[in-house]
Amino acid sequence: MLIQALTGNHNRQGFDCGRAELNDWLARIASQHQHKGLSKTFVAVPDVAPADILAYYALTLTEVDTRALPDAYAKRLPRIIPGVRLGRLAVARHHQGKRLGELLLMDAMQRVRAIREHAGAVGLFVDALDAQAAGFYVRYGAVAFLDTPLKLFLPVC
Ligand SMILES: CC(C)(COP(=O)(O)OP(=O)(O)OC[C@H]1O[C@@H](n2cnc3c(N)ncnc32)[C@H](O)[C@@H]1OP(=O)(O)O)[C@@H](O)C(=O)NCCC(=O)NCCS
Repeated sequence: MLIQALTGNHNRQGFDCGRAELNDWLARIASQHQHKGLSKTFVAVPDVAPADILAYYALTLTEVDTRALPDAYAKRLPRIIPGVRLGRLAVARHHQGKRLGELLLMDAMQRVRAIREHAGAVGLFVDALDAQAAGFYVRYGAVAFLDTPLKLFLPVC
């Protein structure tokens, strides 16, 4: 298993996580956004078949208003804080439940730590697709925004 930045050598059309919006974004948008510097996509591939995408996630930089966060964070941080946004994370249907989601989330957090070293970032901000997806991030310590439960914050620690 390798985790690498998305390139033209990866088979973006063959990916199916069971959610059309996540499949379509990878197939049609991810590369364009990467070329324009709008987001960066990372894929997990088997080392024996490196064109096959088993899972992916995409990161962008973001700023967040701390008034939307629980008091424990809002009280000790300025009003606007920098972070990294996990816009999308998806695992191919036949590979779900094999800890690939966990592996990619941990990989994303490593990149947040690297960005924090160079530019500052308080953590990872996630836009979950629905309540079920939000449950995955909560399992790893993410806290929901007060007014938008599908927006979550995973502090760097
Ligand atoms: C949600 C998703 C990313 C999880 O990835 P995965 O590889 O299937 O999950 P993992 O095998 O890494 O699971 C690790 C742990 O999280 C738990 N988990 C997985 N999905 C969960 C969910 N929706 N809610 C709560 N816990 C969840 C697993 O049970 C496992 O827990 P355990 O340690 O007690 O066994 C994946 O199933 C997926 O891509 N689903 C479709 C697309 C989607 O909804 N993406 C999220 C968009 S924001």
